[in-house]
Amino acid sequence: MSIHVPTRIGVLTGGGDAPGLNAVIRGVVKAATQLGWEVLGFEKGYEGLMPPARYRVLDNENTKGILHLGGTILGTVNRGRFTAKVGEGQERQIEPALLEAAHATCESLHLRGLICIGGDGTLSIAQQLYERDVPVVGVPKTIDNDLECTVITFGFDSAVACATEALDRLHTTAASHERVIVLEVMGRHTGWIAVHAGVAGGADVILIPEIAWDLDGVVRKIRQREAAGRPFTLVVAAEGARWPDGGLVARATGASAIGEIQLGGIGQRVAEEIQARTGKETRCVVLGHLQRGGPPTTFDRLLATRFGVNAVRLIAEGRFGRMVCHHPPDAVDVPIAQAINRLRTVPPDGDLIRTARALGISFGDG
Ligand code: F6P
Repeated sequence: MSIHVPTRIGVLTGGGDAPGLNAVIRGVVKAATQLGWEVLGFEKGYEGLMPPARYRVLDNENTKGILHLGGTILGTVNRGRFTAKVGEGQERQIEPALLEAAHATCESLHLRGLICIGGDGTLSIAQQLYERDVPVVGVPKTIDNDLECTVITFGFDSAVACATEALDRLHTTAASHERVIVLEVMGRHTGWIAVHAGVAGGADVILIPEIAWDLDGVVRKIRQREAAGRPFTLVVAAEGARWPDGGLVARATGASAIGEIQLGGIGQRVAEEIQARTGKETRCVVLGHLQRGGPPTTFDRLLATRFGVNAVRLIAEGRFGRMVCHHPPDAVDVPIAQAINRLRTVPPDGDLIRTARALGISFGDG
């Protein structure tokens, strides 16, 4: 008598969370269930693959109602043993013994494929596992939108919506008090969130890592606005926008933490300088993790769902070591190796920046 063993796949979420992770998980479970497959959800990213493996069987019942839920039901970590990026994004090799242990878990559970949902760091680990014969498939996630090979990552639209709403709110209070308000947004080493939200939210000055700026340029814009009868100004500062001397503004990281430096603090420094140089009352708001939490936008739900379904398709087709990506109107895929270790930055002479400049937005450089 032969016993039917269902095809089994795994899924995990790694790195910082982003709105839409649960929508991917749900998409994976629904598509896999249609094929009669079983899905194991590993907890806390790659840590869940370490013996004794920590996972639960995911099905339509226990993943219902999560489509619109922020965070990840599987948990995640972005520092610790499975960290592929350190400092300012330099690559780090994962200890061979850890990769071997992860490989052994996948073998012993007879996984036909392992779906790794994450950004550059998580996908770099996926690639290292793939090179050790683990049948991985990647799904790109990051609010920073800095991954190569995909026009957009899920989570980005939700983060931009959050920052844009913040600007709408700050606009009315800045105007009422005739103040300057600096909004510091996330984005790590790129300015995608800052520029998208800045243009959509009517900012006057946007400071990003891709364009060198100085305080004279910022002050000039504030003065110009005053001269034109607009005595308030909204400034958006990307957390990774380098200070005019070229340095990053970062918070201290715990001595024992392996991982990337924790950016933050530029908004306050810019605000203090503006107040000192103009005498105008200036405030700083740090949007922080509000950009990462909460429900995904409609766009992100749809994109994440499509990614989840297409990741299952890649496993069904036996196409491993690949990452699904968005090239409207299609979801396509590329080798993971092609997408990682290459930061996708905002082109300083692209249409986005040209449009902003045409609107009179200053990047602090003129
Ligand atoms: O990569 C996503 C991101 O939110 C960045 O924009 C930000 O710099 C970083 O993660 C914050 O990480 P943590 O949650 O570890 O502070």
